Amino acid sequence: MKVFITRKIPDIGLKMITDAGIEVIEWDEKRPLIQAELIEFSKQCDALLSAGFNNIDAFFLNECKHLKVISLHSVGYDNVDIAAANALKIPVGNTPGVLSGPTADVAFLLMLAVSRKAFYLHNKIMKGEWKFFEPTADLGIEIKGKTLGIFGLGNIGYEMAKRCVGAYDMKVIYHNRHRNLKAEKEFNAECVSFEELLKRSDVLSVHTNLSDETKGTFDKNAFSQMKPSSIFINTARGGIHNEEDLIDALQNGIIWGAGLDVTNPEPMHKDNPLLAMPNAAILPHIGSATVETRNAMAEIAAANLIAGLNGQRLPHPVNPEIYEAG
Ligand code: DGY
Repeated sequence: MKVFITRKIPDIGLKMITDAGIEVIEWDEKRPLIQAELIEFSKQCDALLSAGFNNIDAFFLNECKHLKVISLHSVGYDNVDIAAANALKIPVGNTPGVLSGPTADVAFLLMLAVSRKAFYLHNKIMKGEWKFFEPTADLGIEIKGKTLGIFGLGNIGYEMAKRCVGAYDMKVIYHNRHRNLKAEKEFNAECVSFEELLKRSDVLSVHTNLSDETKGTFDKNAFSQMKPSSIFINTARGGIHNEEDLIDALQNGIIWGAGLDVTNPEPMHKDNPLLAMPNAAILPHIGSATVETRNAMAEIAAANLIAGLNGQRLPHPVNPEIYEAG
């Protein structure tokens, strides 16, 4: 059995794979794969372990319908055409649970960084612009007791709420398809309409999947309904906000600040105006980037891969419906 791994994964996962007697082909060039290369290597293998963004669309899947399993080294699976995988009965696995805390840490970090203009002020020091003390310059805003709005209160949103309630006694409101009773009980979280979420949030943090339903949700119209003093945070997927509209909202004082760990496109261009704004903080998609979490993700991705190659149900399938269909 042979697997194509699209980017080096932590040794702990790699060892599980080789210990299971699976041969590995690993992409090690310092550039993203193009789809033709993804297809070419996948055709030589029985399985694909996809780390990073690879476009696993219907075209890819139909070219590689022989694959016994596609194991993602991520919790997000918006890069996979699940309907096409289902039609071909290819199991797809992801890595849920283990990155909720670290991703919420990054959302929390961005919230604070934006509220105190931390990245911008750090850049000023780097440019030799720390000159003298000015009582009225570089003022941030405080978070304590403010309202946290969560768009998509699942595992990561829950962890963000926990941090914000614990540290700053924030009031939690959220907008979901289904109510989150655990968060309601533990944090007194209030389920509200999307319009109310926009209107009432002091900090609005996005923690939902990217799907046809959520794509471009935060656009000109959404930002125009938010408070001029509000902060927008996105650690989920860049496609959920419209970046041009976000830039416009910040430049025109429609909202106060923004913190992004995900951008649209990724990587962000170095000349993007967001990078020079006092009230913006941008990170390069590092939500899950801790030693502990990446090791845990590698272990889960390896377990999914090995199960799939052995014809067993994946421990963490994204498309369990393929098993139910018989
Ligand atoms: C995920 O796992 O989906 C994170 O965004 C890291 O890629």
